[in-house]
Amino acid sequence: MKFFIDTADLKQIEEAQALGVLDGVTTNPSLMAKEGIKGEANIINHYKAICEIVDGDVSAEVISTDFDGMVREGEALAALHPQIVVKLPMIKDGIKACRYFSAKGIKTNVTLVFSVGQALLAAKAGATYVSPFIGRLDDISTDGLHLISEIREVYDNYGFETEILAASVRHTMHIVDCAKIGADVMTGPLSAIEGLLRHPLTDSGLAKFLEDAKSFQ
Ligand code: E4P
Repeated sequence: MKFFIDTADLKQIEEAQALGVLDGVTTNPSLMAKEGIKGEANIINHYKAICEIVDGDVSAEVISTDFDGMVREGEALAALHPQIVVKLPMIKDGIKACRYFSAKGIKTNVTLVFSVGQALLAAKAGATYVSPFIGRLDDISTDGLHLISEIREVYDNYGFETEILAASVRHTMHIVDCAKIGADVMTGPLSAIEGLLRHPLTDSGLAKFLEDAKSFQ
């Protein structure tokens, strides 16, 4: 399973990259706004800076909601850097734009996916990635992980190549469960990735090894 980090914070991206397990980055307008990035030039520079840090796909989201606007924005984003993936909302014009970009060989990520039907449409439109939001489903007492397994089943039934990018990952167990189900990619915060490191028996075992190693001197 690929590991993407879901942030526009350059320091966090650097930290995840330094760990040596990072395969890409996802951003969205809320994450960009959180970093205080304003104005076209700053937005462009920020996406370029992310691409310089990570060696993998970087999702950059359009904010237009009509086909022409999405095509215009998406083409400009894709031209910024070969690692840019055009992120499109799961709406009618988003699906049309997805087909347009996939026909041109430009990578896409269909976002805000909350049902198997939406994921099926994204795959039919040739999406590179589909992003089901598991945390936001959990927030409304709906099983987000179950959606991942249902999409896995449908994609496997027909051999769709669209990668299931489990998004809105909130904690470490989401990552483990996504891996068990067979998500192709997960995107989450650095804290969730670092949670995979922790086990009390590792800590106590290491403390004992270091204690016993003192006898070597
Ligand atoms: C996905 O690409 C989104 O950026 C993201 O995972 C949304 O997560 P949230 O529900 O924690 O905002």
